[in-house]
Amino acid sequence: MEKVNVAVLGATGAVGRTMIRVLQERHFPMRSLKLLASPHSVGKVIDLGSKSGVVEEFSVAALKDVDLVFGAVDNDLATEYAPLIRRSGALFVDNSSAFRLDPDVPLVIPEINARDIRWHHGIVANPNCATILAMMALSPILKLTPITRMIVSTYQAVSGAGMKGMDELERQIRDPSAAPEVFPFPIAFNVIPQIGEFDEAGISSEEWKMQNEGRRILHEASLQVCCTCVRVPVYRCHSESIYVETHDAVSLQTIRQAAEDCSGIILNEAPYPTPKECTDSDIVMIGRLRRDGACENGLHLWCCCDQLRKGAATNAVQIGEWAWQNGLLKKGV
Ligand SMILES: NC(=O)c1ccc[n+]([C@@H]2O[C@H](COP(=O)([O-])OP(=O)(O)OC[C@H]3O[C@@H](n4cnc5c(N)ncnc54)[C@H](OP(=O)(O)O)[C@@H]3O)[C@@H](O)[C@H]2O)c1
Repeated sequence: MEKVNVAVLGATGAVGRTMIRVLQERHFPMRSLKLLASPHSVGKVIDLGSKSGVVEEFSVAALKDVDLVFGAVDNDLATEYAPLIRRSGALFVDNSSAFRLDPDVPLVIPEINARDIRWHHGIVANPNCATILAMMALSPILKLTPITRMIVSTYQAVSGAGMKGMDELERQIRDPSAAPEVFPFPIAFNVIPQIGEFDEAGISSEEWKMQNEGRRILHEASLQVCCTCVRVPVYRCHSESIYVETHDAVSLQTIRQAAEDCSGIILNEAPYPTPKECTDSDIVMIGRLRRDGACENGLHLWCCCDQLRKGAATNAVQIGEWAWQNGLLKKGV
C-alpha cells in the first residue's frame, strides 16, 4: 500500500509533540511529515529521532499533497482550519472538541467503534481524554451487558490543559504564591473541582462531554452519566473512579476474563494502578474492581491512562492507521 504524506497541526504543543513520537514508535507508514504550528514557532526544530524537522506556519499551501492531518489545536482554530483541510482532500483527525457532537463526523475509539470511520466526510473526531479512559475501562463490562447508569469522579492531570498547564504547576511548586493563570485556583498542593465553565445547572463543560460523547461512541442514546471532573497536581495521566449499574448481573470473575480479551487494557489488581505507573504507556489500566454494597447490579472500579497518549495522540494515530489500512484517507470535499 502507498505510504502517506502526514501533517501534525499543533506540532509544538503537548498533544502534537506526543503525536510525533507515537507516529514514529508505531512506524506509521509515512512518506513525509510536516510540522505545523503558529507563526510564533516557525523555524523551531523538533527532534524526529534519526533526523529533525522544522516547524512551518499552517497555510493552504502547506497542505499541498498532504493525505492526513492530525489536529492538536484549540476549538476555534480547528473550526477555522477544518474546511481548508477538507478542501485540500486530506483526512482531518481532530483532537479538539469542535466536531465531537457533529452528526456528520464520526467520534471514534478504534477498539470500540472503528467501523464508524467508514462513513467519514473528511473529518474524524478524537473523543475527550476522560471519555476515552472511561469507555476503554468499561469495555470488558460493555462486552457482557449494557450499562444503565454511570457515576464518575475524575482526577485529571495538568497536562490536560496543554503545555501551559504543566508550566503553571511547575511554577507554583517552586513558588506557592505564584498567581494562577491557567487554572481558576492554585493547583500546586491543591485539587480543583472545576474543568471548563459551569452551566446554569452547575455542570461543567468537561462533565457534559462524558455523557454526550459516550452516547455517540456506544450508540446508546439513553446512556445516563453523572460526572465530577477534578484537576489534580499530577503532571501526566488521568485517573477515574467509576460506579456503574449494569442491565444484567455479571460476576467479577466474568468481567476479569472479559478484560483479558480486550485489547488496550490491563487489569492490575496487585494492588492497583496509579497514574505514575501509566505514564508514557498506551495501556489503560483498571483495578479495584468490586461490587457495590447497596445496589444489586452496581460495580465500582478505578482506572488510569496517559491522557496525552491513549487519551489523545495514540487514539488519533490508531484512527489514521485504520483509515489507511481500509483505503479511507482521501474523502475530503
Ligand atoms: N492535553 C491533553 O491532554 C489533551 C487531550 C485530548 C485532547 N486535547 C485537545 O488537543 C488540542 C491541543 O491541546 P494541547 O494540550 O496540545 O495544547 P497546547 O499544548 O497548548 O498546544 C497548542 C498547539 O496549537 C498551536 N497553535 C496555536 N496557535 C496556532 C495557529 N494560529 N496556527 C497553528 N497552530 C497554532 C500551538 O503552536 P505554538 O507553539 O506555535 O503556539 C501548539 O502547537 C486541544 O484542542 C485540546 O483540547 C488535549
